[in-house]
Amino acid sequence: MSTNRVIIFDTTLRDGEQSPGASMTRDEKLRIARQLEKMRVDVIEAGFAIASPGDFLAVKAIADSIKDSTVCSLSRALDADIDRAGEALANANSGRIHTFIATSPIHMKYKLQMTPDQVVENAVRAVKRARNLIDDVEFSLEDASRSELDFMCRIIEAVIDAGARTINIPDTVGYAVPQEYGNTIAQLIQRIPNADKAIFSVHCHNDLGLAVANSLSAIAAGARQVECTINGLGERAGNAALEEIVMALRTRQDVMGLETNIDTTQIVPASRLVSSITGFPVQPNKAIVGANAFAHESGIHQDGVLKHRETYEIMTAESVGWNTNRMVLGKLSGRNAFRSRLEELGTQFASEAELNEAFARFKELADKKSEIFDDDLVALVSDTRASAGHEKYRLSSLSVTSQTGETPVAQVVLSVAGEEAQAQSSGGGPVDAALKAIEAIVDSGSNLQLYSVNAITSGTDSQGEVTVRLEKGGRIVNGLGADTDIIVASAKAYIHALNMLDANIQKAHPQV
Ligand code: KIV
Ligand code: ZN
Repeated sequence: MSTNRVIIFDTTLRDGEQSPGASMTRDEKLRIARQLEKMRVDVIEAGFAIASPGDFLAVKAIADSIKDSTVCSLSRALDADIDRAGEALANANSGRIHTFIATSPIHMKYKLQMTPDQVVENAVRAVKRARNLIDDVEFSLEDASRSELDFMCRIIEAVIDAGARTINIPDTVGYAVPQEYGNTIAQLIQRIPNADKAIFSVHCHNDLGLAVANSLSAIAAGARQVECTINGLGERAGNAALEEIVMALRTRQDVMGLETNIDTTQIVPASRLVSSITGFPVQPNKAIVGANAFAHESGIHQDGVLKHRETYEIMTAESVGWNTNRMVLGKLSGRNAFRSRLEELGTQFASEAELNEAFARFKELADKKSEIFDDDLVALVSDTRASAGHEKYRLSSLSVTSQTGETPVAQVVLSVAGEEAQAQSSGGGPVDAALKAIEAIVDSGSNLQLYSVNAITSGTDSQGEVTVRLEKGGRIVNGLGADTDIIVASAKAYIHALNMLDANIQKAHPQV
């Protein structure tokens, strides 16, 4: 591989999923992984195999089906973690085990309660064990940006000797600043005698809003792998955003002199897919993938762009996949057209029954909405799948009366584990009344942390996509629902969240 090539390592499905409320089902992860493969991401970190049986199966499903990207599983520097990762990756065309241990004084003393010698010993043992299972092994020094340089040199030299091919230097707590971080990378590469036997990688969190700047500084200093997520999803303030790094490298090739293998026209579709699956909306002014990223409002700018596009535009909207939201299907479209368009969008149906259910919903939607766009299809499949699987609660019917000057009243009929139950409630607005009526039946004891509505496409006949975030006993879940009627979409999203709380899936967190 050319020394000018930067490896793009996407961790949306692992670090991104660690965002409170962003947990995804196996099928949702597989859909995102297919889109990442289509975008030509080099490495997909599919999850943390030992975290839960669900995580293991998700990593395995992705490893079994992705052929063009390397599939990676995270593991702590523990034998059981490494073995589980190896098991999940057994059928991968190209697999990687990513093992890590903390190296900062504060983490070693308080979290690990290990001496530096013990940390080196564990790291070397973990890398050797992983190398017995797979050729491609990455080692991360957790909290590297607060670790001592001499100690980092020592442990990195040892793990490269033990067989690590990629050395990742994470800014775990988002503490670094660009010049300092770039300098650390340059020093490591210069001082470690066997540094040329490994690729140096960076992984930055965005607590100070510097994740992309720090990543670019590290790349300029010699790092050749960057770990990032779609839409910057991730723990706390998130990870470095893939779209920003890739487009910065491409747009400023004149300064950086580097390239990636990414098909940039797949960026916006990937952003929309991740947003619709996790329920995390993209802010309108977000670089590259925000709705306003290419919109010129001021008269002076509009005039300039019309006269000569490059007066105010440094890249084209088409180059990152905007304007690909084609009107593809309508009322008369058949099942085959429906299936094949969804396949192009990265969705494979698990069975004919699932296809039939989604197609029936598509027909219902086409009765209400004359033009069906790609985004409608993505939302429709997310909504169909949200209501499949674990389903204790199901919406049977909803009626709401709302009139100026009157208090809105909702009547809800739910099927609860197969038994019909109904309730009526008033509320501050029709959505409030509907959700209160559902609560009157379920009595979930959960706290509503977020309620958001997005119009999926433009036009007043657009579907509303609703996200409801509920918290109960420290567990946070996101429910999604889409419908042309936003009260129905809200009820669906609330019921989806209740079903997820009821499923009570627990998983381990890698840093704990
Ligand atoms: O932020 C971090 O340090 C991580 C490691 C596990 C790579 O996510
Ligand atoms: Zn991280």
